[in-house]
Amino acid sequence: MIVCHCQNISDNDINNAIDWMRASDPETLITPGKLYRALGKSADCGDCMPLFLATMRQNDNLVVPMQLRNLRAGASQGDQECKATQK
Ligand code: FES
Repeated sequence: MIVCHCQNISDNDINNAIDWMRASDPETLITPGKLYRALGKSADCGDCMPLFLATMRQNDNLVVPMQLRNLRAGASQGDQECKATQK
């Protein structure tokens, strides 16, 4: 099934790219942008993003590495003030 009509990317292309990226780096964070780059393409209109993301989420290799989970929660629970807001 074609997911991205602008770049002619199928669900098989997306799944194969995810599997390849996970096999080559078990700790990588896989994003749509990285998938486009891995396929040698770039997004055009973006209308495919909801279906593109839904297709990605169906792949079991899309897990977020354990060390990258809850980064936002961990950052907001710290005692240190954000350097960007310090005066
Ligand atoms: S349909 Fe995917 S970028 Fe346009």
